Amino acid sequence: MIRTYNISFSYKEYEKTEELDPEDYKLILAARDAALNAYAPYSKFKVGAAVRLMGGKIVCGANVENAAFPSGICAERSVLSNSVSNYPDDKITALAIAAFAQDVLTENPPSPCGSCRQVIAEEESRTGKKIKIILSGKNKTHIIDGIGSLLPLQFNGDNLKINLP
Ligand code: THU
Repeated sequence: MIRTYNISFSYKEYEKTEELDPEDYKLILAARDAALNAYAPYSKFKVGAAVRLMGGKIVCGANVENAAFPSGICAERSVLSNSVSNYPDDKITALAIAAFAQDVLTENPPSPCGSCRQVIAEEESRTGKKIKIILSGKNKTHIIDGIGSLLPLQFNGDNLKINLP
C-alpha cells in the first residue's frame, strides 16, 4: 500500500509597515537594531533577531562569526540561547529576523537556516507554544504562524522514544 501525502502551508506577505500589527513592527525594528551588533567580518552579512516574550519583554541576538567558520552562530540561535538562559519560564510568542548585506538592509526577507529551524522547533516543543515567525525585508515582510510550516516532518523528542507496536 502506497500513500501520498501533500503538505502545504500559507504565509502572509505585508508590503506596508502600517499594515503590520504595531507590536510586530516594534519587534522588526528591534531585530534591525540587533543586527548592528552582529560580528560578521567574514560574510559581511549582519543578521539581527528579536523575540517577544509573553510578559512583553523583547530579547535580542545577532550572528557572531568565527575564523573557524563552523564555530560561528546565527542570530536566531543566538537570541534563543539568550532568551532561554535568562528567561526560561517566559514563553516566546514571536521571533523577528532582519539582515543587512554589506550594511544594506536586504530587499528580501531573510529565511532561517536549517539548524535554526530545528532550534526554533525545539523551543516550541519545550514551551508548548507556537512562535510567530516574522521575516522582514526592506519593503516586504513575511509572517508564518509557527515553525511547523518551515520544518515539516520535524525530528523532535518523540523520535527518541522506543516505538512499541
Ligand atoms: N545567518 C544567520 O544569522 N541566520 C540565518 O538564518 C542565516 C545565516 C548568518 C550566519 C553567517 O554569520 C552569515 O549569516 C552568513 O551566512
